[in-house]
Amino acid sequence: MKKEQLYEGKAKKVFATEDPSLCIVDYKDDATAFNGEKKGSIVGKGVVNNRLSNHFMRLLEKEGIPTHFVEELSERETLVKRVTIIPLEVIVRNIAAGSLAKRLGLEEGYVMSRPVIEYSYKDDLLGDPMVNDYHILAMNFATAEELATISGYALKINNFLKDYLLRHGIVLVDFKLEFGKTSDGTIVLADEISPDTCRFWDSETNKKLDKDRFRRDLGGVEEAYQEVYRRLLG
Ligand code: TMP
Repeated sequence: MKKEQLYEGKAKKVFATEDPSLCIVDYKDDATAFNGEKKGSIVGKGVVNNRLSNHFMRLLEKEGIPTHFVEELSERETLVKRVTIIPLEVIVRNIAAGSLAKRLGLEEGYVMSRPVIEYSYKDDLLGDPMVNDYHILAMNFATAEELATISGYALKINNFLKDYLLRHGIVLVDFKLEFGKTSDGTIVLADEISPDTCRFWDSETNKKLDKDRFRRDLGGVEEAYQEVYRRLLG
C-alpha cells in the first residue's frame, strides 16, 4: 500500500499510494519548536496525535466541514486525500496567549470578546511571517472566494471544538489549521489538529495540556498528551 516517501516534515512523513488521489501520513514522536531551533522527542506523541486528529476530523465531517481524512490504518498511520496545501497557517484565538499576548502586551489568559483569526505565510526560511487578507490576495496565496471559505470553516471549527472540548474539561485557547485543495479544487481541512497545534488548558486549573510544556520546558510533556487522549478517547 505504502509507496515512495513524498515528503518529510517536522512531525510527519507523507507517502504515496497506488491511488494518485490518496496518500498515507505517518506520525513521528519528533518535536520541534521555534521554527526547528529546539529539537526533541515526545514519547508516544505520534500515536496520540494521529488518533486525536482523526477523532476531531471525523467529528468535524459530521458538522459539515470537508476534511482530508479517509481511514485510520494503524496507530501512527492514516490514509488521507492527496491535496495541494494552501501555503497559510490559519490561527484562531479565543484567549490571548503565546505570540499574540507578547505582541499586544496582554497577560496570557486574557479572554477576548470575540475570536481572532490570523494568517501566517508558510515559509520556514522566513519564519512563517504573519500576513493579512490583502497580502494573501495580492500574492495569490488564495482567491477571495477561497479565503472566505477558509475563514468560514475556521470559525465554524472553533465554535464546534470549543464547546466539545469544554464538555471534556478542556479550554480551547487557540489553534492552527491548514487547508488543502483536492484535484477538483475542493478546499478541505488538512494537516492535523492535536496538542502540537492547539493550546489546551485544563478548565479547572488552567494547567497547560499541550506542546507549550515542551516549548517552555515545563515538564510532564508526555503526561499532558496522554491526559488529553484519555479525556477524549480513553
Ligand atoms: P503562537 O501563539 O505561537 O502564534 O501560536 C498560536 C497557535 O498556533 C498555538 O495553538 C500553537 C500553534 N502553532 C502551530 O501549530 N505551529 C507553529 O509553528 C506555531 C508557531 C504555532
